[in-house]
Amino acid sequence: MNGVFSEHFTIGGAVNSSTVLGSRELIVKHFGSLTAENEMKPMVIHPRMGSWIPYGADEIANLAREHGMGMRGHTLVWHQQTPGWFFSSMGAQASPEVLLERLEDHFTRMQDRYGDVVYAWDVVNEAISDAPGEFLRPSPYLEILGEDYIEEAFRLAKRIMPDAKLYYNDYSVLDPAKQDKIYTLLSGLLEKGVPIDGIGFQGHWNIYFPDSRTLERGIQRFAALGLDVQITELDVSVYRHEDRATRLKEPTPEILELQADRYREIFQTLVNNSQYVSNVTFWGVADDKTWLDNFPVSGRKNWPLLFAEDHSPKPAYYAVVEAAGGNP
Ligand code: G3I
Repeated sequence: MNGVFSEHFTIGGAVNSSTVLGSRELIVKHFGSLTAENEMKPMVIHPRMGSWIPYGADEIANLAREHGMGMRGHTLVWHQQTPGWFFSSMGAQASPEVLLERLEDHFTRMQDRYGDVVYAWDVVNEAISDAPGEFLRPSPYLEILGEDYIEEAFRLAKRIMPDAKLYYNDYSVLDPAKQDKIYTLLSGLLEKGVPIDGIGFQGHWNIYFPDSRTLERGIQRFAALGLDVQITELDVSVYRHEDRATRLKEPTPEILELQADRYREIFQTLVNNSQYVSNVTFWGVADDKTWLDNFPVSGRKNWPLLFAEDHSPKPAYYAVVEAAGGNP
């Protein structure tokens, strides 16, 4: 698939320790860029002070190196999956100086070990609040460093990873209220000269959303700020966002067609706007392993990707390839 889109953008996938074994063939065949689904997050790689566990991340980085793929580094500053020790010191809350030292140490270790293969970092992830009337999401970073923590994180990343592209990454970027807040944040940072190269639209969408116009306007709005756009976590759930039903035991042919139509529309829009979009990454490889099996309903099976549980291509796969004007 990566080759089919080579004129437009690279195609990537999020992989984990299990899929690099069980889905290796699909990964190597279809992706030109990898993201570690969890293995590069601070909680996994740096769980305790002085304890550094890079084996899962190493395995993914080595697969990328072996096959000449780049990696999107995911993620440096996030309110989730960051261990408590980052934020505490001698039984109390860490001071801003201590937290910044820890970030500097963490960024430096990531750069030393993966700087050769990681071409882009999600420096700050999901900092904007979903709550009406609230701008930044409450988090230990905000509490300790104040609202400049985002700016500080990007400046630190630029110093330590000078050659990587630096992204702000978030979900619901196409929701009007959230989009406005993200736009306000990023345009303000750019005005101050903060080194941000792009925005990641996570792209956790579904068979009814988004339509082409909404996606195109979102891309063009951020591109007009001079930002590169990447779709960093694409999947298309078979459920509407608010649907908690557990009735489906397998996707019906109608659902698979709707999903193919949604993927086609998304990719046609991305291709039409490919001067602004440099990478599109799926959040997983095939339907046998997806985070959506546990979100928002734990244990509810979902089928959001291009390959079925047995790794055969779904109608959505052919629709995506068609959108590039290519042959599978
Ligand atoms: O590794 C442990 C395992 O030892 C334990 O038995 C099991 C029991 O729950 O948990 C395992 O850890 C889980 C981990 O995924 C690895 O599978 C965590 O509970 C689970 O919370 C974690 O979920 C990840 C989630 O981020 C954390 O918030 C998902 O896999 C991952 O897909 C998801 O990815 C995020 C992006 O980073 C940011 N954007 C949203 C996206 C989806 O939530």
